[in-house]
Amino acid sequence: MGVRCLALTTLLAFACALPPAQSPLNDREHSDVVAAAQRPLYGRFLHMTDFHPDPFYQVYSSTNEDAACHRGQGPAGIYGAETSECDSPIALVNKTMEWVKHHLHDIDFVVWTGDSARHDNDEELPRTADAVISSNEFMVHKMLDTFPGIPIVPTLGNNDILPHNVMAKAPNVWTRTYARVWKQFIPEFQRHQFEQGGWHYVEVIPNQLAVFSMNTLYFVKNNAAVDGCASPDEPGYEQLEWLRVQLQQMRERGVKVILIGHQPPIRQEAKTLWDETCWQKYTLWLRQYRDVIVTSMYGHFNFDHFLLQDFADLDEDTKRGRMHHNEPELRGVDNDEVHPMLSSDYWLQLRATWSELPEPPQSLRLAMAENELGWETDDQLTALTKKEKKRRKKYLKHMGGPYAERFATSFVSASVVPNLMPTLRVFEYNISGIDRPKQHHTTISHHRPHTRSLSNSKDKFTVPEPPSKSAPPGPAYSPQTLSLIKYIQYYANLTYINNDFHDGNRSETEDQLEDLKWDAGKHHGKKPHDRDFKPQPNKFKYKVQYDTREDDVYHLKDLTMPRIVDLARRIGEFEADNDGEESLDSWSKHEDTDLDADKKSKKHKKRPGKAGKHTKRNAPWYAFIKRAFVGTKSIQEIEDEFGY
Ligand SMILES: *[C@@H]1O[C@H](CO)[C@@H](O)[C@H](O)[C@H]1NC(C)=O
Ligand SMILES: *[C@@H]1O[C@H](CO)[C@@H](O)[C@H](O)[C@H]1NC(C)=O
Ligand SMILES: *[C@@H]1O[C@H](CO)[C@@H](O)[C@H](O)[C@H]1NC(C)=O
Ligand SMILES: *[C@@H]1O[C@H](CO)[C@@H](O)[C@H](O)[C@H]1NC(C)=O
Repeated sequence: MGVRCLALTTLLAFACALPPAQSPLNDREHSDVVAAAQRPLYGRFLHMTDFHPDPFYQVYSSTNEDAACHRGQGPAGIYGAETSECDSPIALVNKTMEWVKHHLHDIDFVVWTGDSARHDNDEELPRTADAVISSNEFMVHKMLDTFPGIPIVPTLGNNDILPHNVMAKAPNVWTRTYARVWKQFIPEFQRHQFEQGGWHYVEVIPNQLAVFSMNTLYFVKNNAAVDGCASPDEPGYEQLEWLRVQLQQMRERGVKVILIGHQPPIRQEAKTLWDETCWQKYTLWLRQYRDVIVTSMYGHFNFDHFLLQDFADLDEDTKRGRMHHNEPELRGVDNDEVHPMLSSDYWLQLRATWSELPEPPQSLRLAMAENELGWETDDQLTALTKKEKKRRKKYLKHMGGPYAERFATSFVSASVVPNLMPTLRVFEYNISGIDRPKQHHTTISHHRPHTRSLSNSKDKFTVPEPPSKSAPPGPAYSPQTLSLIKYIQYYANLTYINNDFHDGNRSETEDQLEDLKWDAGKHHGKKPHDRDFKPQPNKFKYKVQYDTREDDVYHLKDLTMPRIVDLARRIGEFEADNDGEESLDSWSKHEDTDLDADKKSKKHKKRPGKAGKHTKRNAPWYAFIKRAFVGTKSIQEIEDEFGY
């Protein structure tokens, strides 16, 4: 397949690698809707992101940067070149969706956070608009085939347009194109609205839960065609106005909301993605609608982690509805790289921020462990000593009360494209008390596109209403219906599945050894192939990497804010450690199958030169980093790069 395709033009090449276009699916739309109404709720949904299917991918081509798994000879495996910058072979996409279809059918909806085309990473094969669109159409068909009758909420990724990262104000050719390509996903009454901005929402459980798909291209700094969210002329401003109006309506209807987007609101010195004006407003929205918003989810970065948005970082002006345009020096920190890169500084800064989270006083720790936070009896409360009461008061003031309402969480999932290893994530959420409504489609006529009713002053905007004083904390903060309970992170070990190592009996040619040098470090010494070598791959499957509740290290009873903050604090914490062995023993047994081996080799290994830097041990930090890199870093590499 691949060789013939390469001889053709980009567009034709795509056509020959992809299945022939199927007939439009309008006719099945209706039956899908009916099917959805009849499905029971399972209390689970799936998050998939960053597929990056690449029809030019060639098995056993070079993973070298110039070759991008399109040519040359090298270790690019049958189902993808793990830990490389190559994109996904179609075989990986197919196998992933087959696996999902057979193993994850009990899900209520799918959130799909963008980048469904290959990267523009090969000068010899520049992308074309048609190829980007065909690639997305291919993924739409895959999604519809895999999840018949299940609501799917897509998002625009920065590689779903051409040139990547750059999207001018809508309506434009791209929003019109995706209004067509995502016809089955975007509710009819929002199609016009979608063309106006590339954002929409879907009531995945009618009248109960809506997923809002944001177009983060209008929030990021490196989209040169737009300029933040301060000026009413900017699409970022319009998007936030739309979001504010919708969130207000959702609040009035008692509907809860999950926000999704492609590029996460990462904001560290080492990496900042969003324009600060957008970050400020969005974060203010998160604070004001904290009774409505369940959580937010992103892709793009390919590293599994989470962020806390701290409402203490809101400017006084923002809180008063005033906003100035960005200072020029705040802009342009991010360069226009093809692959999102995160330096180790990013992780270390995250840890430093979290290390400042205050430790809860003893009595609160206990209450949290017993799951009775905020629900302690009067007796329990009066039993506290005066000193303890004072400590508690101080702590709670600092955290925004017992539910940590000073923060919001953004979950960032790793990708299907194996820049590390392919991953998927299944969330569990609380469906107690929800009756499946009879009708899937709600006919809500008052959801009209918002027409702006603001003053013309560039500096002013409407500050959303906060939750009513009598409102209980929202599902993001205290466990209740629609709160997230946990997620299970899955990964496919391509090193194992591709099974494409030489067995060591053959001797390499000079050329192959040369290849080996290029790839050293990336593939951990994985060897290149000659084309005659055709090993049998192992059975393709995803495995559980970790489960936030069952896991010994994270061990989160649910994903509400007090527990997430507690995890962040533990990750940021440095525990004095005498011999380094104690904390090793408490690590997850399910996950760290390689740990025993690592541990043994560690015992015999002392690096005296680095003693000062490595005298602390922290199991949650180690687990966090290990998971961020989807298990592809050894304990040694983690220690060397990040300390723990
Ligand atoms: C992937 O699946 C499509 C059907 O959706 C099929 O036409 C195509 O041949 C498959 N490609 C590979 C490489 O498995
Ligand atoms: C689910 O929500 C109900 C209230 O709606 C609550 O009683 C229950 O404890 C919640 N379950 C979990 C696992 O948080
Ligand atoms: C490689 O060598 C081992 C032991 O020397 C032998 O058992 C095995 O069959 C060899 N494999 C091949 C493919 O020659
Ligand atoms: C993947 O499989 C390889 C080969 O079996 C193994 O050495 C490696 O530790 C595995 N990696 C992960 C993250 O499970």
